[in-house]
Amino acid sequence: MASTQVAPPTAGDPGRAPAVEAMFARIASRYDLSNRVMSFGIDRAWRRVAIRELGSAADGDMLDLCAGTMDFTVALAGRARSLVALDFCQPMLDAGAAKVPAGTNLRTVCADARSMPLDDASLDGAVAGFGIRNVPQPERAVAEAFRVLRPGGRLVVVDFFQPRSLLARAMDLSYNRVVLPLVGGLLTGEFSAYRYLAASMGAWSDRQGFEAMCRDAGFREVRGRELFPPVASIVIAEK
Ligand SMILES: C[S@@+](CC[C@H](N)C(=O)[O-])C[C@H]1O[C@@H](n2cnc3c(N)ncnc32)[C@H](O)[C@@H]1O
Repeated sequence: MASTQVAPPTAGDPGRAPAVEAMFARIASRYDLSNRVMSFGIDRAWRRVAIRELGSAADGDMLDLCAGTMDFTVALAGRARSLVALDFCQPMLDAGAAKVPAGTNLRTVCADARSMPLDDASLDGAVAGFGIRNVPQPERAVAEAFRVLRPGGRLVVVDFFQPRSLLARAMDLSYNRVVLPLVGGLLTGEFSAYRYLAASMGAWSDRQGFEAMCRDAGFREVRGRELFPPVASIVIAEK
């Protein structure tokens, strides 16, 4: 199958959004399978940590930001009072829809994270898994998350940041740059998409830079740490 090449991301390149959306649309139907295989299921443990870090916000009105196939939405269903799953790629949302338990108070919103059609101060928490990295001008997505959260609301981000420690750099070079594009490409047939995803890790912020971005957006309490194994990290920011 012919596939559109997605140019390696460069910081602050707003023009790449349509290509990113098209790329996720191509891999949507095989995204969950490749995720599970590539992370050996460890992403599930990372998601549990993220939900723990949401604290009581997880019981309130929640946003799954860059929701994709809605793994976080599913993990929060049955607990959150209401859920908004927002992503600009409708095929990703569609691919996840069947996983959401019936009766979940869920609204799916197909929109860009840089301009969310959500009211100010309308949510208790937001969680973003492996998504904000793909948003051109991620600071705009962070500012939007700040806007839609209520005072005291919490943003939790799990992502592959630029590694700093020696162990994290070694893991990044071996797993993120070699295993992920190879296995993801083999499972989906979309080698260029998984090369892009690997490149996008190197093209954006380290965790500390992202924490500074959160402070600049107005979040008052911001902290972060590496998860185990140290290929992914978590950032928790309170409004
Ligand atoms: C790697 S997937 C992660 C999906 C899911 N959050 C998870 O934890 O598995 C990244 C998602 O971010 C979405 N995304 C990327 N840029 C976006 C943007 N500007 N606005 C909204 N969604 C975006 C993509 O469509 C994709 O579904």
